[in-house]
Amino acid sequence: MRKPFSILLMAPLLGACLAGPAQAAEVKKAMPGQEIAFNNKKGNCLACHAMPGTKGEMAGSIAPPLIAMKLRYPDRSKLRAQVWDATVNNPRTSMPPFGKHKVLTEDEIDQVVDFIYTL
Ligand code: HEC
Repeated sequence: MRKPFSILLMAPLLGACLAGPAQAAEVKKAMPGQEIAFNNKKGNCLACHAMPGTKGEMAGSIAPPLIAMKLRYPDRSKLRAQVWDATVNNPRTSMPPFGKHKVLTEDEIDQVVDFIYTL
């Protein structure tokens, strides 16, 4: 009697372990900023930038990969400024000035910055 009982106890535990990572991935995917960054009617950052978790063939390579952002931009406002108007740092950049040209709303820019700050 003891053995089948302990297997019954183990099953939900094992299930919880297997579901763990999948749930974590879904939480990350649900970040609104990621939708904006990946959506080709919104930020479409993927057209030019690779990011961790993107597959080579779906991400552009004309711009540097967005990675280790917190390390490289300890000051979040500098990162936001780059997304708001990249032409300030480089007048000849091909990156659209998302804020200045109102491609994204102020809220959407904050959401995108929140998202890429996790990369
Ligand atoms: C049409 C191409 C294009 C798109 C779309 C684009 N970028 Fe860029 N981005 C660039 C290029 C090119 C650079 C390199 C810097 C430069 O040109 O001055 C850059 C630079 C950056 C940098 C600075 C990179 C670094 O390594 O410090 C950040 C941050 C950035 N982009 C974020 C974004 C975000 C967020 C989006 C989407 C909302 C986006 N970019 C969309 C072309 C693009």
